[in-house]
Amino acid sequence: MDGTEPAQMSRLHSTPPGITLGALDLIPSTGARNFVVQFKAGRFHGFVVRREQHVFGYVDRCPHMGLSLAQELDRYLTEDSSLITCSWHGALFEADTGQCVAGPCRGARLTEWPVHVCDSFIVTGPPPAAGKQPGRCRHTGASVNPIQRPKKITRIHSINEVRPAARTSLGGGESSSH
Ligand code: FES
Repeated sequence: MDGTEPAQMSRLHSTPPGITLGALDLIPSTGARNFVVQFKAGRFHGFVVRREQHVFGYVDRCPHMGLSLAQELDRYLTEDSSLITCSWHGALFEADTGQCVAGPCRGARLTEWPVHVCDSFIVTGPPPAAGKQPGRCRHTGASVNPIQRPKKITRIHSINEVRPAARTSLGGGESSSH
């Protein structure tokens, strides 16, 4: 640990809707990006894959052994960016469904982290249903339950989560992005 956070930081596996993660342009048009959302109750680790104007979010946890997929920050995709890859044992996943199509957990699926694009920002939760009062997106006027509001949104080298000893050599491993 880096001394600025509790020794026992719980790992969360979902986030409430309506959290603005950042601008869509934080992610290259066919890229992916790591997000860590910290709450009082613990931290959520996820990543978002962008396909032009569409985004697909997943919990950063490989179904094979439960590890964070990337050993280098944001390296979630294959060289040609067509598939999500796990850096540990080579599992490959479809970018738009999270379905594993090759590797040791073929047939399994990444856990979806619902996200959508609103006014060129990436926001947690599914897009508001057509014809309904949106109510989930900051840009459409919804408020987030203060109890669930994140303390901060950070980026962490995934490798730190599975190899804590590497943290010092990575210069602390964590930096605020917003
Ligand atoms: S932990 Fe992902 S393929 Fe083994």
